[in-house]
Amino acid sequence: MKENFDFLMPSVNFFGKGVIKKIGDRAKMLNMNKPLIVTDKFLRGMENGPVAQTLASLDEAGVQYAIYDGVEPNPKVRNIEEAKQVYLDNNCDSIITVGGGSAHDAGKGTGIILTNGDDITSLAGIETLDNPLPPLMAVNTTAGTASELTRHCVITNEETKLKFVVVSWRNVPLVSFNDPMLMLDVPASLTAATGMDTFVQAIEPYVSTNRNEITDGQCIEAIKLVEESLREAVANGHNVEARTKMVEAEMLGGMAFNNADLGYVHAMAHQLGGQYDAPHGVCCAMLLPIVEKYNIIAAPERFAELAKIMGENTDGLSTRDAAELAIKAMRQLADDVNIPRSIKAIGAKPEDFEMMAENALKDGNAFSNPRKGTKEELVKLFQEAYDAE
Ligand SMILES: [Fe+2]
Repeated sequence: MKENFDFLMPSVNFFGKGVIKKIGDRAKMLNMNKPLIVTDKFLRGMENGPVAQTLASLDEAGVQYAIYDGVEPNPKVRNIEEAKQVYLDNNCDSIITVGGGSAHDAGKGTGIILTNGDDITSLAGIETLDNPLPPLMAVNTTAGTASELTRHCVITNEETKLKFVVVSWRNVPLVSFNDPMLMLDVPASLTAATGMDTFVQAIEPYVSTNRNEITDGQCIEAIKLVEESLREAVANGHNVEARTKMVEAEMLGGMAFNNADLGYVHAMAHQLGGQYDAPHGVCCAMLLPIVEKYNIIAAPERFAELAKIMGENTDGLSTRDAAELAIKAMRQLADDVNIPRSIKAIGAKPEDFEMMAENALKDGNAFSNPRKGTKEELVKLFQEAYDAE
């Protein structure tokens, strides 16, 4: 009967200054005797950085650990295979990810191939995992993908250049740690890219076919928080209030899309990220105004509401005109934080658009988009993003 109980394990989301200090005790509570720390070399090398603070808390609690620090941006299948080997060589029994979305996705991917078979590419899709992952905690350092608290795991197959998503409730980390003080040194360009991902992750569930009143509330608050704080966090990374609001937005958006799902911005951004190894948040930001303009006719009132939520004055405007203002506000935010408008900036090539459109329609995030597109329509959207000026 024991295997039937794993779904009863609750997840806990710690948030606030200093929460990282709780990780050692929490590891002990979860009977983690030897977690594998999954991170990257930069974070591992930082003096008193997120990895150092995680290890200090584990040391204090007397918890042993091993470390895999080979996580790359857009984590690759080879990363999770290497991490699995370190896990097995060191007789680990659990996983702690330290970093942004790449570390969390790599840690989830490692857990997946430890308990669900070696071929992760065959597990792409929704609820494809038969077995629970090893116990997993996530220390988050960017705001962000929210992968530290979601059921999404995004991995890139370096051979096919296909970035795919494994969406499963089994992927949700048992405990996440969001300590804004760990994020103060994130550079402006990374703050902008990851912050735009947070923004998109609040917009897409707001117009998703799977939305509900609870997720709407989470999205509305997250969008307002991003509007209030992303520009400030990019302008001055040590603005603690702005960093804190961005973490709040990230967590709320993650909770929203964990239940309401995403849409074509993510489905198409995964193709750009896989094909050109480009930062996820930048891909999302460049596609956002193009895809949402296309989506307007599926839910014009929702987009008119979005304009108001983003602080636009819609008095006296028709629903259609107010909806257009939402698109303008999205573009303005991306411009303000220096995201290029055209996907030329990441090396996109028109000859790839047909293949990418076909794969985007198969992506695990495509099914909840409010407007149901054809391959030809998605090719056009990639072309628009290419021609954007
Ligand atoms: Fe995202």
